[in-house]
Amino acid sequence: MELAGKHIVLGLSGGVACYKSAEFCRLLVKAGATVQVVMTEAATEFITPVTMQALSGRVVCTSQWDAATPNNMPHINLGREADAIVIAPCSADFAARLATGRADEVLSLMCLARPRDTVPLLLAPAMNREMWTHPATQRNFAQLQADGAHVLGVGFGEQACGETGDGRMLEPSELLDDLIAFFQPKLLAGRSVLVSAGPTFEAIDPVRGITNLSSGKMGFAIARAAREAGADVTLVAGPVALATPRGVRRIDVRSAVEMLAACEEYAQGASVFVATAAVADWRVAQASDQKIKKDGSGATPTLNFVENPDILATLAASARARSGSLYCVGFAAESHDLLAHATAKRARKNVPLLVGNIGPATFGQDDNALLLVDAQGATELPRASKLSLARQLVAAIAGRLPAATR
Ligand code: C5P
Repeated sequence: MELAGKHIVLGLSGGVACYKSAEFCRLLVKAGATVQVVMTEAATEFITPVTMQALSGRVVCTSQWDAATPNNMPHINLGREADAIVIAPCSADFAARLATGRADEVLSLMCLARPRDTVPLLLAPAMNREMWTHPATQRNFAQLQADGAHVLGVGFGEQACGETGDGRMLEPSELLDDLIAFFQPKLLAGRSVLVSAGPTFEAIDPVRGITNLSSGKMGFAIARAAREAGADVTLVAGPVALATPRGVRRIDVRSAVEMLAACEEYAQGASVFVATAAVADWRVAQASDQKIKKDGSGATPTLNFVENPDILATLAASARARSGSLYCVGFAAESHDLLAHATAKRARKNVPLLVGNIGPATFGQDDNALLLVDAQGATELPRASKLSLARQLVAAIAGRLPAATR
């Protein structure tokens, strides 16, 4: 229920992408929002108000001349109740109308009349690629941005006209994620955050290896929360089958050695490093190039191990971390005595903040509970979804960043 308590005015202008707005409306309602749909006349050619009424549970507004509103001013009333107005799809024509302040039908009229300081306007462009890249369209969206609108991205791909390129409306789930992110406080705006996540996989031979139990969910949630908070986020991920959070740069790696190399590279410009990865402690000294075969004699292969680099400790000892430019956060998965172990690990890794959790209670789960240990002591974050905890952790990190780099 990420949007519980939010009232969204969903505006549809004319475009084939209107079919996606039905699903988007459904997702908004499922996320806990109340939704008031407003449609231009062109939009009603693509999808009926009946469908949108059924999905939103409210009568759709299609005309400024509808006398059903007691004061006959839907363009004023609807905008003032909203926590946000989202135009999806926003056609090239509708953007042109907004950019020039036109107000001759209810949707553009309502946008023009919205209280700009309190009701944000989000636009989800949808059009043919030539229309999207046309200087007039780009000029209009740039103008709308300068006027305070928030322009969401466009998707690349096959278009209704059969051409392929930029200009598709984002998918409903992407629109939802962007809207949820929009409402998060921008505590890390202008920051670069590096997150390591997932297990590592250390090859024994081309078909076998050793790894750790880690779903990567906590690290992916932290990457998402940091992005929602306005940071530029790089996620260095071991082998996991999780979707990349919107707007996050993902670098896939396999072994600890690869993970260290990627983290060292991206830590250069980062101001925060959050190490959630469950890095294998050892790797096989000499991985075989060929599959090790059973020879039928019952003999077992002998494996020799070498210790893997400690990525967190390495970055925490770097010049940037020591000068206070890189704030390092470690994780500890323990089975008992969380406070004692987390405190000891914080000292051993030499990091300002160590986050403890009970391993067996979190592996693969969607929720967790955290214990934040820093120089001042310990703070508990009670059991909640990993995304909710990730947002709380991001806020805790933002509040602890040295003022010089904040
Ligand atoms: O020593 P331990 O594995 O318990 O430490 C856990 C913390 O250190 C986590 O933040 C983990 O991501 C990080 N770590 C690391 N490289 C290793 C081992 C752990 O970055 N080789």
